Amino acid sequence: MDRRGFIKICGGTAALAGLQTTYLETVGAAEVKTFARVKLVDEQGNPIKASLLTTEEAYIFHYPYRSTPCFLVNLAAKPADPMTMQSDDGEYKWSGGIGPNGALVSYSAICAHQLSYPNKEHSPIHYTGKTASKLAGRGGMIVCCEHDRVYDPSQGGKMVVTTKEATQPLTAIVIEHDAGTDEIYATGVAGGLLYDEFFRSYKRALLAEYGPGVAKEEVTGSASTMLMSKFTGGIDQC
Ligand code: FES
Repeated sequence: MDRRGFIKICGGTAALAGLQTTYLETVGAAEVKTFARVKLVDEQGNPIKASLLTTEEAYIFHYPYRSTPCFLVNLAAKPADPMTMQSDDGEYKWSGGIGPNGALVSYSAICAHQLSYPNKEHSPIHYTGKTASKLAGRGGMIVCCEHDRVYDPSQGGKMVVTTKEATQPLTAIVIEHDAGTDEIYATGVAGGLLYDEFFRSYKRALLAEYGPGVAKEEVTGSASTMLMSKFTGGIDQC
């Protein structure tokens, strides 16, 4: 995996630019890996506005590659304070939520257990909103019904059901909020990087869906962002 760009964003610089970012610094080996700064837009290409996002369900966009889905979640309450997370690649710092209410977070929607992910037909993994899923016993969780893992988006995406073999947290997506325009950008990823394994595991399916070479193309410019229920034909419940 190409490890070209690791960022260390200076808080002062980010503030001067009128931006809030989910990551201000990193620690350990699992540094933030930068990709193109991509604006999140709706299906018509208009920038989505952070203050208008629902808290009932997650939004899906693809980043940093054209085939790799991410959750954008507007939590019902501000998440935990910044914390150091542990991935299989080392430690990294998760810096909590951003946006008008400090409640916007973003994670890869590829399950850290065995890489289940949402596609247009179906999704075994989703954010529950306020609905208390049977598996999690409460709302506000990301549940993967493939083998019953539960991740807490208000705690850096860490796995919280302990009756199962533990996995690392969901890979975090670095997002920025421009307070002046209320727009949202994705700029990188942090934590365990599962993309090479994902491309290997789903080689045939990705080839069929995207065509030769497209699945691994990096997203640039903008990323179409839509409600999970609109993106996929069916969401597993557990
Ligand atoms: S792939 Fe998600 S729990 Fe196994």
